[in-house]
Amino acid sequence: MNDPILTILRDQETGTADFRRAADLVAHRLATTLAMKLPTDPLLIHTPLQAMEGKQYALPPLLVPILRAGIALLAPFMTHFPNASVAFVGIRHSEETAEPILYYHNIPPILPHQPCILLDPMLATAGSTSVAIDLLKEKGATRFYFAGVVGAPQGIRRLQEKVPSIDITLAAIDEGLNDKKFIVPGLGDFGDRYFHT
Ligand code: PRP
Ligand code: URA
Repeated sequence: MNDPILTILRDQETGTADFRRAADLVAHRLATTLAMKLPTDPLLIHTPLQAMEGKQYALPPLLVPILRAGIALLAPFMTHFPNASVAFVGIRHSEETAEPILYYHNIPPILPHQPCILLDPMLATAGSTSVAIDLLKEKGATRFYFAGVVGAPQGIRRLQEKVPSIDITLAAIDEGLNDKKFIVPGLGDFGDRYFHT
């Protein structure tokens, strides 16, 4: 997706209010796309005219925003999955080594086969997501989905090597990473732009 909404996010002239509005719209699109991919069970219902077999989600998903920037995707995903549980994972990058460091987590019990949807707008090296996946695996997670705004090919490959069954939903796949491990052309530091810091 390289549409006008994504262009608003990428443009360095975009101010905070427009950035937040565009991020919200993209998050709703990601949630809509992902909603079509979750496992369902048949559900017998009666329309006003006749009986029919509909569908219900097999299990409510676990939403896992990676702090901070993943918070930007959380409210739209909660709108689409109103019965979801939410787990928080806080990861920052070391200023010396740029390695991802886990600084916070709050994870509810995970049901067998429960879809775990990782939310992070930027998938660069996939270092942060890998740390989150390791933690969720320790807590029993087996079914992984990732939703993000922009991804780099390196990060996508790394996630697929780590969890071959992972389902990745991205609004755009960019060229690669620069020497600071930022996605190019990308949109800069999502967290700083979204939170106006
Ligand atoms: C950014 C971004 C991702 C991560 C992507 O977070 O939101 O979480 O970097 O990079 P990676 O794929 O190489 O791990 P950042 O460290 O800037 O923290 P923030 O969310 O608090 O802004
Ligand atoms: N984090 C961001 O916010 N942007 C990038 O391009 C890479 C990591």
